[in-house]
Amino acid sequence: MIVVMRLGHRRLRDARVTTHVCLTARAFGADAVWVDTPDSELEKAIAGVVDRFGGPFELRTGVPWKKAVKDFNGVKVHLTMYGMPIDQALPAVRKAARGRSVMIIVGASKVPGEIFGSADFNIAVGNHPHSEVAALALTLDRLSRGAWARKTFKGASVAVRPHARGKDVVHLKAKRARAEEE
Ligand SMILES: C[S@@+](CC[C@H](N)C(=O)[O-])C[C@H]1O[C@@H](n2cnc3c(N)ncnc32)[C@H](O)[C@@H]1O
Repeated sequence: MIVVMRLGHRRLRDARVTTHVCLTARAFGADAVWVDTPDSELEKAIAGVVDRFGGPFELRTGVPWKKAVKDFNGVKVHLTMYGMPIDQALPAVRKAARGRSVMIIVGASKVPGEIFGSADFNIAVGNHPHSEVAALALTLDRLSRGAWARKTFKGASVAVRPHARGKDVVHLKAKRARAEEE
């Protein structure tokens, strides 16, 4: 199980980026995102995506982060520009994560200093400031060695059929319902 812990979410200011953290987590193989601040709008938006494009994927908001991080029974990986380069750290992370759950911690604004001590690994995706979305995407890709691309989602009502030009969207539930009627 891979869970992303999102710290410091500000409902208005971070609405778009936290949505993207959730979409990226889901698309690239995480099972859940836990957000520290309660946010029913975010929950609604992500539930809509899961309903259309499939799951399982869990979003919890209003998660007390201190307790969540402390109680997490698995490997805790904090993404920070101040950490060890991802290529250097990954072998040890993979070894520690064998057969265990992984929590990937990303910030919004400045993260509390104690996170650096609570994490098993502080990892940098390059030692330059960029985005939690980019850092998360690259980390999930590297951790899974690209296996996220073969992940299948269940219960979707739509699916995209890859197309060199234009959009091709298949409506699965309607299709299933029609098939059942016939
Ligand atoms: C936009 S940054 C804000 C960082 C904030 N100014 C600070 O000093 O902690 C938000 C989050 O993006 C992630 N991030 C940004 N650059 C990163 C990097 N080079 N490597 C890993 N994570 C990074 C971290 O999780 C960080 O908490």
